[in-house]
Amino acid sequence: MFRKSISARLALMFTVATVSMALAYAVCLRVTLQESLEKQMHNELQFRYSLVEPMIVSRASAYDWQLLKAKFVNLSTSEGGRVQYWIISDDPFYHLGGPVPQGVNLRALEDGFSKVDLPDAKKCPLFLMASTLPASGNRPALRYVVAIDSTPYMGTLEEFTRVLLFITFFGVIMVALLGYWISRAGMKPIKALSAQSHQLVPGKQKQRLCIDSLPEELHALAEAFNGVLVRQEKAWEQLESFNADVAHELKTPLTNLIGQTQLALSRDRSVEQLQNMLGSNLEELERMSSIINDMLFLSHAQTGKFAAQMAQVSLRNESQKAAEYLEPSLTERHLSVRINGDATAYVDRRLFTRSLANLLSNGSRYAREGSTIDINIVQSDRFISVSVLNEGAEIESYHLERLFERFYRVDGSRTQSSSNHGLGLSIVKAIAQVHGGDVFVNSRDGVNTFGFTLAVAEKR
Ligand SMILES: Nc1ncnc2c1ncn2[C@@H]1O[C@H](COP(=O)(O)OP(=O)(O)OP(=O)(O)O)[C@@H](O)[C@H]1O
Ligand SMILES: [Mg+2]
Repeated sequence: MFRKSISARLALMFTVATVSMALAYAVCLRVTLQESLEKQMHNELQFRYSLVEPMIVSRASAYDWQLLKAKFVNLSTSEGGRVQYWIISDDPFYHLGGPVPQGVNLRALEDGFSKVDLPDAKKCPLFLMASTLPASGNRPALRYVVAIDSTPYMGTLEEFTRVLLFITFFGVIMVALLGYWISRAGMKPIKALSAQSHQLVPGKQKQRLCIDSLPEELHALAEAFNGVLVRQEKAWEQLESFNADVAHELKTPLTNLIGQTQLALSRDRSVEQLQNMLGSNLEELERMSSIINDMLFLSHAQTGKFAAQMAQVSLRNESQKAAEYLEPSLTERHLSVRINGDATAYVDRRLFTRSLANLLSNGSRYAREGSTIDINIVQSDRFISVSVLNEGAEIESYHLERLFERFYRVDGSRTQSSSNHGLGLSIVKAIAQVHGGDVFVNSRDGVNTFGFTLAVAEKR
């Protein structure tokens, strides 16, 4: 129950806090009362002592002593034996007072106040005051002891303790019940918040939690939740456009395939005609397969599935390998590659090569024939930037902003079947993001620059 309910948990916490506080109060009050009662008993002992002491001191003769004996009997019986007086001496003639309770040794008592527990556990302790009176005249030195029975005082203390425990017990029960009720009332806004969240429908746009109706403490939570909704909305939009793009890209080759096959089946064809048709179909199928492979690669890169293959590498060496890989298309257009700078980075080697190969492949396609493509590697404090520069026609700025989107091409002819389908730069972007970086592009003075950054990190 306490694991599942915050209200029950809060009520338990209130109760534990109250029990601790009430016990501390109860102990303090009891100790204070006990001290005060003991003080009262000492005052009473002092009073009784001073009442009788002058009589003892002034009685020196044997006759006087007989008179004192009579007074002593009166004193000891007057309050039902609650207060007792004893005089002891080496001379038995000077012994006064009734029988001494078991467990009390009058001779062993120290001068001043003392407390003696009686062997009978039901009886309350005796509080005593003892003093030694020096010899005077014929009278020897005496030991004078006054004792009071603490039963009335202890009774008060016990009664007080009982009331205190009773109040504490009911107080704790009240706090537990009220605590539960208060915390349930306090939880109402959270219930309202979860009711709001229940009404959210997947895929529906512009759904937000209403923050104004919530208490201040829940604002941060609701804002964070709204942030998740915004991100989810974006992801949803991306997913929808991705689906639309994929369907669009696959539709053209599929339509071609179906059209050609239907045409071939519409009448008798020679073996040569059928071979031509199958060759053309194979091209379309290869194009579809390449789109699917790129999309799979993109989705794996975006989900960071390659992160396990991270290694410390020289980016210059890796760039060299990517350039060698693209040598056939570079040679075809009489292009050369120049690598400037170097940096050592902690990257996924396969992703880095793929990313750079994509940029180089674009460069080799769009560079002025016979020109040089530069690969610049620049290291700064927090990032390493890798860019590919090629001479070529300037790209309009409104295209620049969108080039890294999936399936976006400057020529825009999505319907045309070609070997390039506009996924290369979005793969570069996803790879840069996997490495904590981003992409950049600019086109000025006849030079087009496409590049990406990698975050400098010891080990990601
Ligand atoms: N170096 C460049 N010079 C001029 N335009 C470029 C350059 N690189 C890319 N582009 C433009 O950006 C578009 C998108 O490039 P991207 O690499 O994403 O796709 P693609 O090269 O058309 O196809 P893919 O890379 O999937 O085979 C290209 O179609 C081209 O219009
Ligand atoms: Mg490309």
